[in-house]
Amino acid sequence: MRLARLMKVFVTRRIPPEGRAALAQATDCEVEQWDSDEPIPSKELERHVVGAHGLLCLLSDRVDKGILDAAGANLKVISTLSVGVDHLALDEIKKRGIRVGYTPDILTDATAELAVSLLLTTCRRLPEAMEEVKNGGWTSWKPLWMCGYGLTQSTVGIVGLGRIGQAIAQRLKPFGVQRFLYTGRQPKPQEAAELQAEFVPIAQLAAESDFVVVACSLTAATKGLCNRDFFQKMKKTAVFVNISRGDVVNQDDLYQALASGQIAAAGLDVTTPEPLPTNHPLLTLKNCVILPHIGSATYRTRNIMSLLAANNLLAGLRGEPMPSELKL
Ligand code: NDP
Ligand code: DGY
Repeated sequence: MRLARLMKVFVTRRIPPEGRAALAQATDCEVEQWDSDEPIPSKELERHVVGAHGLLCLLSDRVDKGILDAAGANLKVISTLSVGVDHLALDEIKKRGIRVGYTPDILTDATAELAVSLLLTTCRRLPEAMEEVKNGGWTSWKPLWMCGYGLTQSTVGIVGLGRIGQAIAQRLKPFGVQRFLYTGRQPKPQEAAELQAEFVPIAQLAAESDFVVVACSLTAATKGLCNRDFFQKMKKTAVFVNISRGDVVNQDDLYQALASGQIAAAGLDVTTPEPLPTNHPLLTLKNCVILPHIGSATYRTRNIMSLLAANNLLAGLRGEPMPSELKL
């Protein structure tokens, strides 16, 4: 009896237990993993991907033409442990007929929860306030000390009313937000109806919002979208939050806007580069709160993401419908 040849799978990082177990049980695959919690260097990825039928990667792995060439004609499926796909050379991938799996929906709640936490942390100046408790700056209750901006009767502008953008708005509504604005490629009347959100040009969103929350995908059209021009249109009392990708923001322009008082504060879960160098100018500002890209970081969510990524990969390799396939 001839044994069927095993399909070669390369996993670019240690992944949570459920995904690992699903791959380990796949008797038709030979799984090799980069056995580290740190990113695989691209030269190593180029070496390990040779001949792979399936690649399970992370948002920190740039899968470009070089990696695809190195993988060769065997490569049939790329499964990313993320909903964002800006790290994948999608045109090249499509040209080669490679299928792509990703992890939408299951991380929406965790990411929206983090976005709201970051917004409140930033607008109510929590890191600064905590520091004052530790450094002796707290001398008494003072009427105008540590004041920030609240959500009651505010206008919130969402850049990208997608899955996460909507979930953020739904969570913010009970805080007493008066008006929601949003931008995108086109109006989304159905999604906007419950929030009574108004579709407006981006310049109007910048000018009228007390809080701007960026939740769009990173594409050629959104790269650098939040730049000097955008920040100049914002209110001096407005708070800017980005949970999408660092490259949607021009960070030099953001620094100027924050340092000059053009805008009140910013909360970022994503930066360029990641990690942000510890001597980066943004880290010197009291009115800038920066988190290390932890939007989806709950144990439950990451476990489910890993299982979905594994199942996407296995279904793709077996020629079956994937639980979450990206339409190319
Ligand atoms: P969706 O695809 O549901 O939403 C993406 C949104 O981006 C859509 O509303 C889309 O608008 C909008 N968009 C696309 N192009 C533009 C544009 N030119 N101008 C304005 N908006 C635009 O994705 P998700 O909500 O699931 O995820 C969004 C992004 O969040 C991901 O791509 C990822 O980068 C990031 N993310 C970050 C996490 C973190 O840990 N910080 C966690 C998870 C995701 P339209 O509807 O008009 O197409
Ligand atoms: C994504 O999925 O795109 C996030 O950035 C990480 O969960």
